[in-house]
Amino acid sequence: MQLTLLVGSVHGNARQIAQTLAMAAPDHGASAQVLDMQDLTIAVFDTPGLFVLCCSTTGSGDVPENAQGLYYSLDADARFLGHVCFGLVALGDSSYGDTFYGGAKAFQSRLQDLGAKLLGEICVLDALAADEPDTVALAWFATWAQQARSLAPSVSGPG
Ligand SMILES: Cc1cc2nc3c(=O)[nH]c(=O)nc-3n(C[C@H](O)[C@H](O)[C@H](O)COP(=O)(O)O)c2cc1C
Repeated sequence: MQLTLLVGSVHGNARQIAQTLAMAAPDHGASAQVLDMQDLTIAVFDTPGLFVLCCSTTGSGDVPENAQGLYYSLDADARFLGHVCFGLVALGDSSYGDTFYGGAKAFQSRLQDLGAKLLGEICVLDALAADEPDTVALAWFATWAQQARSLAPSVSGPG
């Protein structure tokens, strides 16, 4: 199973989570690459495979600056993404109220509008929570990877 982890991050928290998941991927029968969203466009989804977006929120429910190019490309260069399956790791801070993990929600909405399929539950990492984010993300990933293998065999591949 080949995974691509796409990172949208301001201060590096989302990047750290993506790297943690990439290191754990072989334990779940997957190999993973981590790509910063900076300079990516919708073309990143041309390659078949599974994607996990690790995206934080900035401003008032906004996607991080390094994610803006990809986010706007999903609109400006819109095309059908029915072949894309993705998981979502959403970083935010619940003290922001209505804009809690708004950056990840924005990606979810736009990708689904284009026909991409969200696999499994969203992994929500709240900066206010006492739990260690790496631990929460790894627990989520164990379940997600299992679901990905059974729900999307055509994109997750044999290995
Ligand atoms: C200036 C600023 C604005 C933020 N705005 C939001 C927000 O609107 N909603 C939210 O859920 N979190 C918000 N956050 C919290 C971050 O998303 C959270 O701290 C996250 O862990 C940062 O991850 P990163 O280092 O990968 O960017 C904000 C943080 C900062 C510093």
